[in-house]
Amino acid sequence: MTKQDVINQILGKNKSSDYYGTVTAFAPVNIALIKYWGKRNEILNLPVTDSLSISLTNLGTTTELSVNNNKDTVFLNDKKIDEHSDFFNRIVNFVDLFRPDPEFYFTVKTKNDIPTNAGLASSASGFCALTNALNKLFSWNLDHQHMSIIARLGSGSACRSIENGFVYWHAGKQQDGMDSYGETLSYKWSELTIGILTVSDKPKVISSRKAMSLTSKTSLLYKNWSERISHDLKSLLGSLKEKDMKRFGEITESNALSMHATMLDTKPPILYWLPETVQYMREIWNLRENGISVYFTIDAGPNIKLIFDKKDSNTIKKYFPEVKLINIW
Ligand code: DP6
Repeated sequence: MTKQDVINQILGKNKSSDYYGTVTAFAPVNIALIKYWGKRNEILNLPVTDSLSISLTNLGTTTELSVNNNKDTVFLNDKKIDEHSDFFNRIVNFVDLFRPDPEFYFTVKTKNDIPTNAGLASSASGFCALTNALNKLFSWNLDHQHMSIIARLGSGSACRSIENGFVYWHAGKQQDGMDSYGETLSYKWSELTIGILTVSDKPKVISSRKAMSLTSKTSLLYKNWSERISHDLKSLLGSLKEKDMKRFGEITESNALSMHATMLDTKPPILYWLPETVQYMREIWNLRENGISVYFTIDAGPNIKLIFDKKDSNTIKKYFPEVKLINIW
């Protein structure tokens, strides 16, 4: 099963007949609370387990898409991207799936509100914004489930950026992955606040794609990953229902640490943290010991996302004046 087979299944024969001038679309960054780490199908980005995220609403990627007569052109944050770069190739490989004919070219102008490729989920919002833009350009009028499936073909976690709020990604069982998509959960939690502590905005040392593949192949700890995720997902959903910040924060933090533990157990080991990451972790644990209910999660990068109750915002700002607070609801 190829990506093209999946696209043909979703769009049918008339996938790209009419198109409309220049379109612009947005998709939010999503932060995984229960992580996606490891694939059951590396081509279609089908995950081994379900995962759960929260979208950062107004923080993400805006993509302008138009048709071009000569060749594909990609801009990132107003800078033309080198045609030999990985970034360019990932985008072109994705839009290849949607060309009505081989002489049909795209201009993709993408802007990120957050550093690109630094473990802040820019590829998730990026591929989702591009999917939204394609949907507009070709007037497909797809529902969110199908858009989520298409975005996943660009980057797994992109399938969760299709929705706002809490999003549950069903791993699914089917070979074609038509049952693997992000679905919004009805929970709202207006007190839940996310803060970003940027340790580095440099691109990550190893892509999450490569890292998760190595982990699943070589880490012994990873053998328990599915079981661990089932347990954490169940507990997190319970804490979400009850709006129990302590339980919610503890599970989220522990799930992130267990993902990083499997990375450390990978051969050769993978470590995304920098000394400042560890320093922040210690400060957060210290604050907790002093009665402040703050937790963190970390993705494939050195940056920290804080999780806390809105009422503690001023305290958090006092201890971390550099924090970027996110308006989710
Ligand atoms: C650590 O979605 O970037 O952020 O599917 O290969 O593109 P690919 O990987 P990607 O991996 C994200 C991993 C993570 C955890 C998560 O977002 O759930």
